[in-house]
Amino acid sequence: NNLPVNICEYQELAKKALPKMHYDYINGGAEDEHTLRDNIAAYGRILLRPRVLVDVSNIDMSINLLGYDMPSPIIVAPTGSHKLANPEGEVATARAAAACNTLMVLSFSASCKIEEVASSCNAIRFYQLYVFKNRDISATLVQRAESHGFKAIVLTVDTPMLGRREADIRNKMVAPANANLEGLMPIDDLDTTDGSKLEKYARDTLDPSLSWKDVEWLKSITSLPILLKGIVTAEDARKAVEAGAAGIIVSNHGARQLDYAPATISALEEVVKAVAGAVPVLVDGGVRRGTDVLKALALGARAVMVGRPVLYGLAARGQAGAKHVIEMLNRELELAMALCGCRSVAEITRDRVQTEGDRFR
Ligand code: FNR
Repeated sequence: NNLPVNICEYQELAKKALPKMHYDYINGGAEDEHTLRDNIAAYGRILLRPRVLVDVSNIDMSINLLGYDMPSPIIVAPTGSHKLANPEGEVATARAAAACNTLMVLSFSASCKIEEVASSCNAIRFYQLYVFKNRDISATLVQRAESHGFKAIVLTVDTPMLGRREADIRNKMVAPANANLEGLMPIDDLDTTDGSKLEKYARDTLDPSLSWKDVEWLKSITSLPILLKGIVTAEDARKAVEAGAAGIIVSNHGARQLDYAPATISALEEVVKAVAGAVPVLVDGGVRRGTDVLKALALGARAVMVGRPVLYGLAARGQAGAKHVIEMLNRELELAMALCGCRSVAEITRDRVQTEGDRFR
C-alpha cells in the first residue's frame, strides 16, 4: 500500500484501475502513435548542464502568467470526461489543483458543469473551447465560463476534425455526455457500427471551417484574453501574435490529432524565437518529470501543462491522487532546479540544456 513515487507508477495503477476501453482512451494517440512516443522520447534527447556551488537553500518556482502570480509553472491541461477516471470528475481535479494553488484549464468536453466546477473551490481557472458548427453553442459556453469567473479562453486550434485514434475505434469508445451541452443540443444515440462513437460525434459537431477569422469572432464575443492551443510552427506563432492572441500553447494535443507532428519540446524553441517575447509561450505533451519542466523552461516556455499524469492520479486515487501527481512534479522541479543551480525560474536559462541541435552544431 505504498504511495507511488513517480508518474510512471501512477500510470501503472491507472491501467489496473480502469476498464481497458477507458485506459486506452486516456493513454492512446493517433494512428501509428509515432508522435505519442516522440513527445516523451524527445525530452530524453535533451541533456542538462548543471552549474554547481550555487547557494540553493531557497528555490523560488513562482511565475506570472497573464498577470496572475502562481507558485509553480506546472498547470493542469484541459482533458475531457474526467468522470471516466473518477466518479467525481472535474470537481475532484479542480479541488486537487486548488489545493496546490495550480491553475486548471477546464475542458470543453468536461463531464461536470462549468457552474459546479466554479463553485467547488476558488482557484484561477481557464476555459478551453472547441468551436462547433453551431456557433451559438460555443458562444453560450464562453459566456457561461466568463460569468463564472474563468480568467481566459484557451482556443484549441488543432482539432478541426478529430484525429484517428485506432484504439477508440476498435473499442467502439463511448465518452460520457458533455455536461455543459445539456439543454443546448440533443444528445442522441449515435450509431457506433463504423468507428468510435466519439469520432461520429466529433464529425457531427466540430466545425472544420475554423480559421483565423474565427479568432476575430471569438474576440468579438468575449473580453477575456485568448490563448491559442495547438501551434507547433514559427509561421503560425507569428500569425497568432498578429491575430491578438494573449498566449500560445505549443501542443500536439498529446499526440491525439496529427501523427508525425513534431514532439512539442522539439517545436518549442522555434515558436519561442518567432514570438520574440510578444506573448507568453506554454508547452504541453510528454511532461512526466520535473526535469522535463526544467528543460521546457530553459527552451523558453513560461509554463507547462500536464494532461495524462493528472488523469492517472485521478484514476488511481481520486482527488488525492491528482493532488499527489501535481505535488510530485512540483517537488521534482524544485530538486531539479537546485541540482542545476537555478534558484529561480529566471535562472533557468538556455545554457542549462543541451539539445540534439546543439550537439550537431
Ligand atoms: C486531451 N487533450 C485535450 N485538449 C483539449 O484542448 N481539449 C480536450 O478536451 C482534450 N481532451 C483530452 C483528453 C485526454 C484523455 C487527453 C490525454 C488529452 C489534450 C491535452 O490538453 C494536452 O494537450 C495533452 O494531454 C498533453 O499531453 P500529455 O501531458 O497528456 O502527454
